[in-house]
Amino acid sequence: MARYLGIATALAATGAFALTPEQLLSTPRRGVADPSPDGTIALSSISQYSFEKQSSKRGINLIDLNTGKISDSGWNSSEVSEYQWLPGTSTGIIYINGTGENPGGVSLWIGDVKKPNGSTKVAELDAPYSGLKVANTSSGDLHFLVNTLAYPNGTAFNPETAETPRSSARFYSDIYPRHWDTWLTKQRYNVFAGVLSSNGSYSLAGKGLRNLNHGVNYTATQSETPVQPFGDSSDYAISPDGSLYAFLSKAPQLNKANYTASYIYLGAFASSEVAVAFNGPDSEAYKAGHQGASGQPSFSPDSTKLAYIQQDEDFYESDLWQLYAIDVAAQSGKVSVSNWKALSAGFDRWVQGPLIWAHDGESVYGTAEDYARVKIFNFPVSGGSDFKPLTSNTTVSSYSLLPDSSILVTASAIWTPTEYYTLSNGTKKSLFNAAEVDKNLVGLSSSTVSEIFYNGSDPNLKQQLHAMVVKPTNWVANKTYPLAFIIHGGPQGSNANGWSNRWNPQTWADQGYIVVAPNPTGSTGFGQYLIDAIQGNWGSYPYEDLVNAWKYVRDNMDWIDTDNGIAAGASYGGYMTNWIQSNDLGNEFKCLVTHDGISNTQGAWATEELWFIRHDYNGSIWESDAYDKWNPMNHIANWSTPQFVVHNTLDYRLPESDGLALFNILQARGVPSRFLNFPDENHWVLNQENSLVWHTEIFNWINHYSKGTPLDDVPIGN
Ligand SMILES: *[C@@H]1O[C@H](CO)[C@@H](O)[C@H](O)[C@H]1NC(C)=O
Ligand SMILES: *[C@@H]1O[C@H](CO)[C@@H](O)[C@H](O)[C@H]1NC(C)=O
Ligand SMILES: *[C@@H]1O[C@H](CO)[C@@H](O)[C@H](O)[C@H]1NC(C)=O
Ligand SMILES: *[C@@H]1O[C@H](CO)[C@@H](O)[C@H](O)[C@H]1NC(C)=O
Ligand SMILES: *[C@@H]1O[C@H](CO)[C@@H](O)[C@H](O)[C@H]1NC(C)=O
Ligand SMILES: *[C@@H]1O[C@H](CO)[C@@H](O)[C@H](O)[C@H]1NC(C)=O
Ligand SMILES: *[C@@H]1O[C@H](CO)[C@@H](O)[C@H](O)[C@H]1NC(C)=O
Ligand SMILES: *[C@@H]1O[C@H](CO)[C@@H](O)[C@H](O)[C@H]1NC(C)=O
Ligand SMILES: *[C@@H]1O[C@H](CO)[C@@H](O)[C@H](O)[C@H]1NC(C)=O
Ligand SMILES: *[C@@H]1O[C@H](CO)[C@@H](O)[C@H](O)[C@H]1NC(C)=O
Ligand SMILES: *[C@@H]1O[C@H](CO)[C@@H](O)[C@H](O)[C@H]1NC(C)=O
Ligand SMILES: *[C@@H]1O[C@H](CO)[C@@H](O)[C@H](O)[C@H]1NC(C)=O
Repeated sequence: MARYLGIATALAATGAFALTPEQLLSTPRRGVADPSPDGTIALSSISQYSFEKQSSKRGINLIDLNTGKISDSGWNSSEVSEYQWLPGTSTGIIYINGTGENPGGVSLWIGDVKKPNGSTKVAELDAPYSGLKVANTSSGDLHFLVNTLAYPNGTAFNPETAETPRSSARFYSDIYPRHWDTWLTKQRYNVFAGVLSSNGSYSLAGKGLRNLNHGVNYTATQSETPVQPFGDSSDYAISPDGSLYAFLSKAPQLNKANYTASYIYLGAFASSEVAVAFNGPDSEAYKAGHQGASGQPSFSPDSTKLAYIQQDEDFYESDLWQLYAIDVAAQSGKVSVSNWKALSAGFDRWVQGPLIWAHDGESVYGTAEDYARVKIFNFPVSGGSDFKPLTSNTTVSSYSLLPDSSILVTASAIWTPTEYYTLSNGTKKSLFNAAEVDKNLVGLSSSTVSEIFYNGSDPNLKQQLHAMVVKPTNWVANKTYPLAFIIHGGPQGSNANGWSNRWNPQTWADQGYIVVAPNPTGSTGFGQYLIDAIQGNWGSYPYEDLVNAWKYVRDNMDWIDTDNGIAAGASYGGYMTNWIQSNDLGNEFKCLVTHDGISNTQGAWATEELWFIRHDYNGSIWESDAYDKWNPMNHIANWSTPQFVVHNTLDYRLPESDGLALFNILQARGVPSRFLNFPDENHWVLNQENSLVWHTEIFNWINHYSKGTPLDDVPIGN
């Protein structure tokens, strides 16, 4: 390690280090540090792609929480697909072994983290369950939850043993045929509960697993947990004493393409009664106007309270997320709730998970994005939080509370993919920083990163707007670098001080650019007003804000060459590059890059989450004039800047026809343009070999138009 650090310093001094796409894509990807119940060690996953071997090596690491020393745990991660610490032990784990004896099934094992070869199988399961959550009970039995796809009759679905249908037909009589990258089938994800009875050793009790979603009545939307496509085991919870469970599922009376609303269902673990939503249409919370999506059900240490987050509006996915708590108790198989209260009233940021109760049950920790960082906050149950962040200049991806109440944090920044640190009474102690250890990253440091503020275009906006600025790693003073103007997606998202494997600001900067990554109207982390102000205004405020940001750079940062700048963006950022192409700002760039972005607003109705476009465009396609007003297709006559178009086949959020139409028009009009497609990628490019082509071809394009380097004639991977 010391040797690498020495080399890094030398390289930085000579300006030699630059983060290449190969280095970005083949550096280890490290998971969340998950501490043992006694807080002495933590486990974290690691995977590393090798371009030589064309495969990833995976493992499970052990982190010593006193020294930060990381070692291989010895566990075989191709067998251990996920693990949980065994409550009440110091080194016990319970895990899912992906190689069960049943075809297509998995098995549950209990072992000791220090003895990778000494575990015992406790259950064989007949479907590919995942998302294990476990509680120990006073009887010594373990209660657990897992999830998998299930048939409408509640039986778990095992794709390996299921009969192959004779026809490939897909047939739908209601809205929502497909979502993200998957065509919907009759199966839905459901949560299942099981008991491992303890009698000297553990074994699966009774009739096996019980489907907790089955029996939840619906008129429009069948119960499903986790909510697809991004839901995970944080969509359900088991109380620490094992007596209660909670899961969230979309509003059963509302059509799920049109609404985001979801409710949290509570049930008594030992009862066969079907769970009931406590924040559904009959509840106090609902009547008080809190009718949107719910999330992150989390029980207090004494199992008497539940914290959760919820939005107010039932079809606005970017409404303010607020934190609530409610008392819960089980009586003869039914769960009663009382004392519902808001814990984040007055906090103008989105409260997000993980939600973790303080050991004394008097407050709840959560995260929130704030000025381009994700920070940890604490919310007392008695109210009166000062909403002061506990962390500062990192993007927190997860955290845990240790027995002494210090916090173990997993975070990233533009200059590091992973930092593990503890916070004790406000003091940060770094345990591990990947940028100091992983050899692909040894030149990275925070010295390349800064931020700027400029005026917004909305006259009612009460604050300045923000942008991240990233210099090349080998930046030297008294030299100018062309501008790379990177526009984020969402539009309710942000350009933040965090690591990304897909749009990594340092990798772009290290092609010899100054990356300016603005947060215009619509961006998250700067208060709800800025988020809400984009509704019906996709092409106005955000565009004018970007013009202001660009002018700010031109007029105030003479070390940035705006004459040879480029602009790039994905999703909404792709729409915006198309809108820039359609308007005057397009003339200020040497070229544009559009990844999976809308070129025809009318075409956006081929999307899946109709609530999104309906909200953002102020109504349905036949109701609102916003579609026509902000449609790049209405400005084809202005399209003249060379443009690189990426659009992937499995992108059901925004079908590839949109990118093809854009490319065909550019070609037909003689505007230099290229089209890159991955038949096996969705809205994102995830495969490392694909991502390398993506980076190589895009960088070849921008370097040609910005710096005059030759354009390749035969793109790789052609
Ligand atoms: C890990 O497990 C896989 C699947 O069981 C097996 O093929 C492989 O040999 C194991 N690796 C080691 C190092 O034991
Ligand atoms: C579970 O709790 C029971 C009762 O407190 C205790 O006897 C048992 O050791 C615990 N089991 C584990 C695995 O911690
Ligand atoms: C996983 O299960 C397979 C098949 O039962 C077994 O051979 C292997 O030892 C198990 N691995 C672990 C880590 O439990
Ligand atoms: C565990 O088993 C693997 C493969 O069977 C072996 O290579 C390894 O040395 C064993 N580890 C221990 C700690 O016994
Ligand atoms: C549920 O439906 C599936 C698919 O039709 C079938 O294989 C399974 O046996 C059914 N389960 C029950 C309990 O009827
Ligand atoms: C527990 O194990 C003992 C000895 O194996 C057996 O006699 C007893 O019936 C078991 N109890 C239960 C509840 O399974
Ligand atoms: C669901 O509807 C059926 C039929 O109307 C009814 O018998 C059952 O009690 C309902 N279940 C719940 C959980 O409301
Ligand atoms: C979709 O939601 C809007 C707003 O709540 C409502 O006016 C409209 O009727 C809904 N359409 C359908 C098909 O549910
Ligand atoms: C934090 O400070 C309190 C009061 O000074 C002390 O009791 C506690 O042990 C400290 N906690 C840690 C983790 O250092
Ligand atoms: C975060 O770190 C960067 C890089 O050191 C620095 O430029 C910036 O001012 C810091 N921001 C805050 C809010 O501390
Ligand atoms: C930004 O806004 C402030 C306050 O309204 C104003 O004084 C200043 O001139 C504006 N700057 C630019 C570049 O327009
Ligand atoms: C860089 O520019 C500054 C200000 O223009 C000047 O003072 C300094 O001498 C220059 N340094 C070099 C190495 O040219």
